[in-house]
Amino acid sequence: MDPKPAGSAPDPDAETLRERALTTLTAARERTTLLTTCVTDHDLTAQHSPLMSPLVWDLAHIGNQEEQWLLRTVAGQEAIRPEIDGLYDAFEHPRAERPNLPLLPPDEARAYAADVRGRALDVLERTALHGTRLTEAGFAFGMIAQHEQQHDETMLITHQLRPGPQALTAPDPGPAPLLTGPAEVLVPGGPFTMGTSGEPWALDNERPAHVREVAAFHIDTTPVTNAAYQAFIEDGGYDTERWWAPEGWAHIRRRRITAPLFWRREGAQWLRRRFGVTEVVPADEPVLHVCWYEADAYARWAGRRLPSETEWEKAARFDPATGGSMRYPWGDADPAPEHANLGQRHLRPAPAGSYPAGASPLGVRQLIGDVWEWTASDFLPYPGFRAFPYKEYSEVFFGPEYKVLRGGSFAVDPVACRGTFRNWDYPIRRQIFSGFRTARSAEES
Ligand code: AVJ
Ligand code: FE
Repeated sequence: MDPKPAGSAPDPDAETLRERALTTLTAARERTTLLTTCVTDHDLTAQHSPLMSPLVWDLAHIGNQEEQWLLRTVAGQEAIRPEIDGLYDAFEHPRAERPNLPLLPPDEARAYAADVRGRALDVLERTALHGTRLTEAGFAFGMIAQHEQQHDETMLITHQLRPGPQALTAPDPGPAPLLTGPAEVLVPGGPFTMGTSGEPWALDNERPAHVREVAAFHIDTTPVTNAAYQAFIEDGGYDTERWWAPEGWAHIRRRRITAPLFWRREGAQWLRRRFGVTEVVPADEPVLHVCWYEADAYARWAGRRLPSETEWEKAARFDPATGGSMRYPWGDADPAPEHANLGQRHLRPAPAGSYPAGASPLGVRQLIGDVWEWTASDFLPYPGFRAFPYKEYSEVFFGPEYKVLRGGSFAVDPVACRGTFRNWDYPIRRQIFSGFRTARSAEES
């Protein structure tokens, strides 16, 4: 094809990409703004838990990452405030130390993030979204929108840990349709293409696509519910050593853990606090705020096990009609509200069995959204992994100390949630929006 003459209409593909980058960056900033304006300045600078940063750190860190990647790396601009880089480097200061740093106060943090955003949108206007790997299909802009949305989930966790009255509200999800099908689904054995090489905004740890052999297995149709988890508690699950991995048993004894985080027994009832409101634990909601050790112990008690990460992704992406892998359980379409509970639209998981339109071809529901699902697997690179664009996103975390979570929670935006998306955390962590489903190997025949 001939090169386009100067002054011709912009490439429609580039315009679509620019539009998508703008929309996702704008949506992220609206969420960030809500999360950082619904509480007082004192609540923004206080540390509500040693596990979390002060909210005002997340806010300026969001701006600082955007400045480093979009203004300095993509556009080659000078640092706006080089002296603050160290403060907002997650590797220089662990979360527990952050409240003692000379952080930008709320008004300055807001002004800084807004200043960076204004310039970043100018850069978006002028940058060719092809030619370099960093800008190809708008990757850097997508990466920064995902980064902000990841911190928006982190900030919602901080809101959940914050004592005091409710600051955020959202409508509850509707009741689940009657689930009449089987409680588990058989996923056939055979090859499965895991990961992706083609999804333009997929992060380095999701790449490359590669084929894995997977033996047939059964997996729960829905995440494990509070009612099912209560049966484990009532059966003495937390007092029975044989259900627990040795480190898990030592951990729950030492920390006197006897129920999911935020739960409290009152008479015959379990109550829990969520976002400043105490309620009776709803029986049919996926269990939330359990650590990997609790998920692992529950599965053993139930005569089952956690799915491996490969099994989880096969359940979520395998299309038995073609033998290929789809982007999401429901197909290749971007997530819509009828598919999944994502994006802080609701501030809780939807009842088990919700979102039939989001089910996989084999009938597995709620793989995407609602609760992050613990898998049995350590966080490891795929064969052929290459760190991009920086080692500190994934590579420095690979190894046996972290377990993989999949599928996203109600708190994560669709831009940062895919069938291939990988999250990870320590097996003792439970302030995150984590639940699980169980699996078992299919009998050999
Ligand atoms: C992928 C959720 C584990 O929050 O530590 C945010 C995402 N990386 N800023 C995290 C992330 C850099 C990361 N997780
Ligand atoms: Fe970050």
